[in-house]
Amino acid sequence: MDKILVCGGKRLQGEVVVSGSKNSALPVLVSSLLTAEQCAYQGIPDLMDIRTTLKLLSSLGVRVEREQDSRGLGDLTIRADHVTKLEASYDLVKTMRASFLVLGPLLSRFGEARVSTPGGCAIGTRPVNLHLKGLTEMGANIDLVHGYVVAKATKLHGAKIYLDLPSVGATENLMMAATLVKGMTVIENAAKEPEVEELATVLNKMGAQIHGAGSDVVKIEGVDALHGVRHRVIPDRIEAGTFMVAAALTHGDIVVRGARADHLEAFLLKLKEAGVTISIEEGRVRVKGEGRVKGVDVTTLPYPGFPTDLQAQMMVLMAVADGVSVVTETIFENRFMHAQELIRMGADVRLEGNRAIIRGLESLSGAEIMATDLRASVSLVLAGLVAKGNTEISRIYHLDRGYEHIERKLSALGANIQRIKG
Ligand code: UD1
Repeated sequence: MDKILVCGGKRLQGEVVVSGSKNSALPVLVSSLLTAEQCAYQGIPDLMDIRTTLKLLSSLGVRVEREQDSRGLGDLTIRADHVTKLEASYDLVKTMRASFLVLGPLLSRFGEARVSTPGGCAIGTRPVNLHLKGLTEMGANIDLVHGYVVAKATKLHGAKIYLDLPSVGATENLMMAATLVKGMTVIENAAKEPEVEELATVLNKMGAQIHGAGSDVVKIEGVDALHGVRHRVIPDRIEAGTFMVAAALTHGDIVVRGARADHLEAFLLKLKEAGVTISIEEGRVRVKGEGRVKGVDVTTLPYPGFPTDLQAQMMVLMAVADGVSVVTETIFENRFMHAQELIRMGADVRLEGNRAIIRGLESLSGAEIMATDLRASVSLVLAGLVAKGNTEISRIYHLDRGYEHIERKLSALGANIQRIKG
């Protein structure tokens, strides 16, 4: 297995280009199941999770082709005109929970689907009850058989659905299913994340009638059929935020090209509060770290609150801040696994339930550490950038699920980082 070796202490500077958003690309690729016409997507990031999604779509009989001249995955065309299988296997769903998103589109277009339940994952139990509750309210018959959700519907219909939590995945799954059913579906307490809004934009380009995406009430008037689409994926706000933390941590100066400041408001306000200089320009954000940051308290919340996917990175920044800070995680129950590894690097972190109390220190010290999940792994890379000496991070397959060419991008900014092939 590959490892990443970081030798800390370099100041990062220069320009980095943000890749296409993983969390936007995943549901958008899946939405191609809703039409027999060709869909073309640009800016698809070359990541393990994207490859898993393409493998899943191919296993259903969907044709996936890379457009000519496309570097990496980049530009793809997808055509779901001969779907031969209506099943997502355990193998695919267990490696990537977003595979569960095929349930809504398959059920809505073909009247049945068999999708493995995702099970728990490192950061928590992560159930899918809200996805299932919504589909049941739309008229689906759902059984759990041998670890699979078996869903059938002779005819789905519009419904009024209240989500107990504003789940991103449930909102996306139900929104996709509702595009092709008879009547109006209303999702109340919907997730407002930019990726949800973007999915609605793509579906509307395909002929869907969705209103209110990006607010907490989404209304979908079902239509008879959807058509093909051409769409460029939005920039990855979490990757952008990660480079911004890297600038602040290393007292560097990084221009993050493609970053959408409007998707990162809570996060940017927290960086400013911590004393980081932010300049928002057309199509880019410049972040300058002028000396040690101040400790600030952070609570993760559904969008537009502070994103849970930037919590681990922010904790690293707080570990070397001046003062004490409290990081509270309210979205996932077990998302502090990076804390144990940071403690091995000398950080002063105390965990109390869903709160981490961090006393900032002047520096961390390099160590052999282990990645545990996607965002935790990038936070350990960040910690390596400011640690004294060498940091060796194992189990970095988590990193490859969500960060495109991370070591190349950081090296180009001046980091001393390399991948050791295992
Ligand atoms: C998405 C993102 C992930 C991000 C998360 C929260 C993708 C591919 N992934 O994940 O990076 O961290 O949003 O912003 O876009 N829940 C239930 N029942 C359900 C569904 C969810 O209880 O049926 C709970 C979850 O356990 C969790 C919370 O709701 O505690 C939020 O989960 P959700 O918004 O669904 O996250 P994902 O869509 O899985």
